[in-house]
Amino acid sequence: MRFSLVSLTSGLLLSGAAATFQKQCTDADIVEHTGNPAGTIQVIQNVTTYISAPNPLSLRALARRNTAVIYLTDVFGIELLQNKRLADSFAKAGYLTIAPDMLEGEALPTDLNVPGLNLTEYTLRHGPANVDPIVAKAVAYARSRPGITKVAITGYCFGGKYAFRFLSAGRNVDAGFTAHPSLLVDAEITAITKPIGLALAETDTMLTPARRAEMEVLLQATNKPYQVSLYSGTAHGFGVRADITDPEQKFAKEEAFLQAVRWFDNYA
Ligand SMILES: *[C@@H]1O[C@H](CO)[C@@H](O)[C@H](O)[C@H]1NC(C)=O
Ligand SMILES: *[C@@H]1O[C@H](CO)[C@@H](O)[C@H](O)[C@H]1NC(C)=O
Repeated sequence: MRFSLVSLTSGLLLSGAAATFQKQCTDADIVEHTGNPAGTIQVIQNVTTYISAPNPLSLRALARRNTAVIYLTDVFGIELLQNKRLADSFAKAGYLTIAPDMLEGEALPTDLNVPGLNLTEYTLRHGPANVDPIVAKAVAYARSRPGITKVAITGYCFGGKYAFRFLSAGRNVDAGFTAHPSLLVDAEITAITKPIGLALAETDTMLTPARRAEMEVLLQATNKPYQVSLYSGTAHGFGVRADITDPEQKFAKEEAFLQAVRWFDNYA
């Protein structure tokens, strides 16, 4: 009798906790729009890296303690507050989050009207030969952390290309997500061996409606799970730099983040 009372009570407690957990998982309030960064800068194998860890006692962290997220920034790098805050949001969702400086200290200012800046030259200098080894170090570091058995990767604009690249065979990454990827070539799409989710902007000169249609055909041909979500009222960059005073953009940024979290919960 006592036993059944105890199990009834703990059952009620557990279902209460589960209900709370469910609610927390889908709440847009996980998304950190303002305030100071919660993570720390560490140097990992010579790579400056922003690391944001979940509260280890949170229900989300308990549920996701085996999975790390590699966060790959846009050209504004880990210095950009919005990148730090979005990485913090993944930590708040329960994931140990690791954002390597893919740009080797050469992040761009958000006002790209820098005299003398040659973007072609810049992206050549920060191409796969330079960036792949940096991302590989972050993946290896994630896997070296106690308890981590799964690695998910999320990338924005510039970083989106590398989210795709690290879903090819032998990269040791389990699932990927990208918002408005740029400079992505066909072979990088067809090479994926793991699930990928995409959040795309309505207005994006780097990823036009025609290119979107081509990408859908290429994704289908991979025979891997994929999701392509198009967000109205958004422009390239919204996954990180949405104008959150615009309700449609704010909603889209939060929804794209929750799309990534749900994707990783399910596929990583
Ligand atoms: C470490 O980084 C510094 C500066 O970024 C560079 O000069 C040096 O060659 C790097 N060392 C290794 C072992 O990669
Ligand atoms: C920018 O860099 C590319 C590649 O190095 C070069 O071909 C091009 O001439 C440069 N453009 C300008 C305006 O300097």
